[in-house]
Amino acid sequence: MKVAMGNDHGAVEYKDAIKAMLEEEGIEVIDCGTNTKDSCDYPDYAKKVADLVVSKEVDKGIVICGTGIGISIAANKVKGIRCGLCTNTTMAKLTREHNDANILAIGQRIIGIELAKDIVHTFLETPFSNGERHIQRIKKITAIENEQ
Ligand code: RB5
Repeated sequence: MKVAMGNDHGAVEYKDAIKAMLEEEGIEVIDCGTNTKDSCDYPDYAKKVADLVVSKEVDKGIVICGTGIGISIAANKVKGIRCGLCTNTTMAKLTREHNDANILAIGQRIIGIELAKDIVHTFLETPFSNGERHIQRIKKITAIENEQ
């Protein structure tokens, strides 16, 4: 599995910790930055991760900012992205099963690092349910995108 990660200046620590965990587990990580605490704009990093996901250069994306809100909003502007902001493992499981989310967003200021790691594992390990009703709803999301 290959994962792209991106974050702003408020989430360098969690990106580093999660990246190290994934690499230790044999998962290839493309680090889209940022890697300093200098103030930066989270949409720039959301876009880098989203582009890699849409082009299928990676299997999944993980984006992190202070709250996870801004970077998830930005990622969801890219056509083909379904980015789920998760604050617990149930949300991570359900955003895979129901929404077939291809990017996970988390907030460094919102949850502890151990929970963040559990959320990442749940997100990466849970398959899409392939349920008919969920497929129909995802098709409607795509239809909205195509109307823009
Ligand atoms: C950066 O100061 C902060 O706004 C950002 O990390 C995030 O919380 C935005 O949603």
